[in-house]
Amino acid sequence: MKITIFGTGYVGLVTGACLADVGHDILCMDVDVNKITNLENGIIPIFEPGLESVVETNVKSGRLKFTTDVEKAVEHGDLQFIAVGTPPDEDGSADLQYVLAVAKSIGQNMNDYKVVIDKSTVPVGTADKVNAMIAEQLSSRGKQIDFDVVSNPEFLKEGAAVNDFMKPDRIVVGANSDRAKDMIREAYAPFNRNHDRMVFMDIRSAELTKYAANAMLATKISFMNEMANLAERLGADIEEVRKGIGSDPRIGYHFIYPGCGYGGSCFPKDVQALARTAGQVGYDSVLLNAVEAVNYAQKSVLFDKIKHHFKGDLKGKTVAVWGLSFKPNTDDMREASSRVLMESLWAEGAKVQAFDPEAMEETQRIYNDQEGLVLCGTKEQALRGADALAIVTEWKEFRSPDFDLIKESLSEAVVFDGRNLYEPEAMARKGFTYYAIGRGL
Ligand code: NAD
Ligand code: UGA
Repeated sequence: MKITIFGTGYVGLVTGACLADVGHDILCMDVDVNKITNLENGIIPIFEPGLESVVETNVKSGRLKFTTDVEKAVEHGDLQFIAVGTPPDEDGSADLQYVLAVAKSIGQNMNDYKVVIDKSTVPVGTADKVNAMIAEQLSSRGKQIDFDVVSNPEFLKEGAAVNDFMKPDRIVVGANSDRAKDMIREAYAPFNRNHDRMVFMDIRSAELTKYAANAMLATKISFMNEMANLAERLGADIEEVRKGIGSDPRIGYHFIYPGCGYGGSCFPKDVQALARTAGQVGYDSVLLNAVEAVNYAQKSVLFDKIKHHFKGDLKGKTVAVWGLSFKPNTDDMREASSRVLMESLWAEGAKVQAFDPEAMEETQRIYNDQEGLVLCGTKEQALRGADALAIVTEWKEFRSPDFDLIKESLSEAVVFDGRNLYEPEAMARKGFTYYAIGRGL
C-alpha cells in the first residue's frame, strides 16, 4: 500500500520503517529539513535499538523515502498517518497546533480519497477537529472529495520501539467507516498473524484508550513510589513488598518498580493532559492530579537524600551522576529525573560529573556551557574525586560495577541509588553508606 507518515520522530520514523519493512511503499514527511537531510544520508536522529538497520534496509530497497515536500507527501499515500508531537500547552493540555497544521496541509493538497490516521496521542474530540479542518480546506478549494479520519493510537515504548511495533499487543483503531477499517486492516495485516490483535471501536473510545493506558501505568508507578516512601518511614523494604504483591496475578510484576520518578515525553504530559481534559468537562480528577503530584515530589527524592546526608550543605561538593536519559536504552532526556537532580544540585552550589552510555550528546545540547557540569567519557571517570555517587537510570552497565574502584574514587563511600540496583546488606558489607528507594534511610 502507498502510505505517508507526517513527523519522523520516535513514532513516525518507527512506524514508517516498520511498515516499509513488511512491504508497503512509505514516504515520510517532516518540516525539519535537517532531520530529513540526515535521514536521506542514513543518519538516524535518535538512539533506538534496531531502528538503524530497519531504516537502512528499507531505504536501500526503495520502500522508505523521505521528503519535506508536503504536496508530494499528501499525493503519495492512500493512508496518511499523523505522527507529529503533541507537547503540553502552558496549562498542561495537549497542544494540537502540529496535528492541525498537518490536517490543514492534507485538506489543501488532497485530490482523491484518503484515510487520515491520528497516530499522535491526542485528546478526545481531536478526530472531529481534524475532520473539520480538512473539510474547511476542501470547501475553500471548492472541492468535494471523500475522506475518513481514524484514531490509531500508538503504544510503543522508547528503547523497545521497533520490537513493540513489529509485535504489538493490540492495534487499537477507532473508526466509523467500513472503507477506512478495511484499508487499515490491510495495512496492519502483516503484524496481525496467528491471532487477531485488531481492536476496533468508536473514535472517541480509541482516543481515550491511549490516555487511559498511559495514566494506568503512571498510576502504578506513583502508587509504588508512595508505598516506597511509606516503607522507608515504617522500616519495611519496598523490594520485598513488590515481590509480595506482584505475585498476585491481578496485580502482576510489571510496572511496579519504585524509583526516582517517571519521566519521558509521554507519561508526564499525558497524565497532565487527561487531567486537563477532565477539568474541561467539569470533572475534577483527584486521582490523576495525585499521580502527577506524587511523581513531581518523587523526582526530588534523591536530591533530598543527598542534601540530608551532607547536613544541608552542598556548596563545593561534587556528585557523580550515572544515567541521564529518562530510562535505559534511549538517549531521550525529556522530563528525565536526572535533570531535576542536576538542576537542584547546581542551585545549591554543588558540581556534577555525569555519565550516560547514550545521552551525552543530548545532555551537552541541553546544558551547553552549564557551570558545574563535567561530562565524562566513562562511568569510572565520573567517579574520580567526587564526594558521592548518584544513580538515576538503570542502564545494564551500572548493575555490577567495580565496587572497590567506586570506593577508591569517591572521597566518601556513599551511594544514592534511585533505581534499587544493589542489595543494601551487601553494600553495607562492602563498606558503603547506601541510600536506595523505600529500603530504609
Ligand atoms: P517527536 O517530537 O520525536 O517527533 C515529532 C516530529 O514531528 C518532529 O520531527 C517534528 O519536526 C515533526 N513535525 C512537526 N510539525 C510537523 C508538520 N506540520 N509536518 C510534518 N512533521 C512535523 O515526537 P514523538 O515522540 O514521535 O511523538 C509523536 C506523538 O506520538 C506524540 O503525540 C506522542 O505523545 C505520541 N507517542 C509517542 C511515543 C514515544 O515513545 N515517543 C509513544 C507513543 C505515542
Ligand atoms: C510509555 C508507555 O510504556 C508506552 O506504552 C507508550 O506508548 C509511551 O509511554 C507513550 O505514550 O509515549 P515510554 O515513555 O517510552 O513508554 O517508557 P516506559 O518504559 O513506559 O517508562 C516511562 C517511565 O516510567 C521511565 O522514566 C521509567 O523509568 C519509569 N518506570 C517504569 C518506573 O519508574 N517504574 C516502572 O516500574 C516502570
